[in-house]
Amino acid sequence: MDLRIADLGPAGRRSPLALSTVRGDRVCNFVTDDERVLYRVVTGGELAGVDDSFERAGPRERIYFDPKAVRAAIVTCGGLCPGTNTVIRAAVMELCYSYGVPTIYGFRYGFAGLVPGSGYEPVELSPELVDDIHHRGGTILGSSRGPQDVGAMVDTLKNMGIGLFLVLGGDGTMRGAEEIYGEIERRGLPISVIGVPKTIDNDIHLVEKTFGFETAFSIAIQAIRSAHTEAKGYLNGVGLVRLMGRQSGYIAASAAIAEPDVNLVLVPEVPFALDGARGLLAWIERRLETRRHAVIVVAEGAGQDLLHEETEAIEVDASGNVRLRDVGQFLKRRISAHLETRGVTHSLKYIDPSYMIRTAPANPNDSIFCSSLARAAVHAGMCGKTGMLVGLWNNQFTHVPLREVVGRRNTIDPEGDLWLAVLESTGQPAEWGPSRTTRR
Ligand code: F6P
Repeated sequence: MDLRIADLGPAGRRSPLALSTVRGDRVCNFVTDDERVLYRVVTGGELAGVDDSFERAGPRERIYFDPKAVRAAIVTCGGLCPGTNTVIRAAVMELCYSYGVPTIYGFRYGFAGLVPGSGYEPVELSPELVDDIHHRGGTILGSSRGPQDVGAMVDTLKNMGIGLFLVLGGDGTMRGAEEIYGEIERRGLPISVIGVPKTIDNDIHLVEKTFGFETAFSIAIQAIRSAHTEAKGYLNGVGLVRLMGRQSGYIAASAAIAEPDVNLVLVPEVPFALDGARGLLAWIERRLETRRHAVIVVAEGAGQDLLHEETEAIEVDASGNVRLRDVGQFLKRRISAHLETRGVTHSLKYIDPSYMIRTAPANPNDSIFCSSLARAAVHAGMCGKTGMLVGLWNNQFTHVPLREVVGRRNTIDPEGDLWLAVLESTGQPAEWGPSRTTRR
C-alpha cells in the first residue's frame, strides 16, 4: 500500500485556530503529519501490512489556503444516507466559524449539479441556512447516481473559483472524486478534493466505519423485533427480514448481533445451499421441530447465485451496480413451499423495511461521527491535502488516499470476528452444502 497523501504545495499560513503545539499546557493541540495511525495493531500471525500507517487527521498549524479568500463547495452523491445533512452542517460551521471562510456552495443533485446545462444552480450555504438541517433525513442538496463529464466538472470548479471541494459519497462517488482529482492535478489547479465516506453498506475500503451505517442497522432492528414477535405468535412461525447490503452484509450482520433474536443471517460473503440435509430448508425444518419458531435475516445481495440464470443478461444501475434479484421473495416462496411439502403447519411473515433504514436522520452516535468526519475533512482541505478521504481506523480519524480506496470494497471476512459473533449469537451452521445447484 502507498498511504502517502498528496498536497497542493507548501502550507504557508498560520491557522486561525487557537490551538497549541505544547503537550501539557491544557490547550488542545494541532496535529502534525508525523502522527501516524498504524494499519495493523494486532501483532503475531500474518504480518502483512505491519509497517503501513495512515496520516492522522486533525487541524494543522500551517494551512495552505487564505481562509478569507478561499471558496469551498460540497456535493452529495449516491444513495441517501442518514447523517448527510449533519456532515453538511458541521462542514459549513467549521469553515465559517473556525476558519472564517466567507463563501461555501452546495452543488445540487450530485455530480450532475457540476455540469453546465444540467439546470441545477448551486446554492450558497450559510450557518443560518444549515442551522437545523441535521434534524432531517436525506440531503438538502439532493443526490444522484452515475458519472458525469470530468472535464466539465473541473471547468465548473475552476470557473467558480472553488479551492476546497468536499465530496460525500460511497465507492462509486469516490471513483468520481479520484477522477476529478486526477484532472485537477493534470491541469495544475489549486483545488483540494476531499472525500467523506457516506454509505449505509459500510463497504468503503480502508475505512472501518462509514457514516450512516450505524443509524441504518439500528433502524433495521425494529423490523427484526416485529419479525420475532410475529414468529413467536404462531405455531412454527417464521419471520423473514430482508435488509439492504448489496455486496457486503454488514447491515444484516450488525443488526442481527445487536438484536440477538435472530437465528440465521445470510450475507453475500457466505454462500449457502437450499437443498440437502445440510441445506437451509432442512435447517429451518429442524429448527421449527425443536424451537417452534425461526427468525431469518437476509442481506439483499445474498444467494444471488441461486437466483440468477446464467443465460440472463446482467443489468446495471446508473452507478454501475448490478441490479439484484429479490432474494427475500425467493426465500419466502421456497421456505413456504418446502414446509408445505413436508406437511409442516407454519406461518411465514416477510418484512422488507427497504429504504426506511436509510431515510432517517443520524442517531446520536452517528451524529457525533458525522460532525467529526466533517471537521476532519475541512482541516485536511484547508491545509492543502488533496486526493484523499477522511476515514476511521483503529478508532482514530485518518487521511486515506483515494487511489487506494477506489475499485476495492470492504466485505465481511468469513473467518473474522464479526462473522464469528454472528455464528455464536445465532447458532447457525458455519458451512452449508454441499449441494448448491438449486435454481428456480
Ligand atoms: O447506497 C447503498 C444502498 O442503500 C444499498 O444498500 C442499496 O442496495 C442501494 O443503495 C439501493 O439504492 P437505490 O435504489 O437508490 O439505487
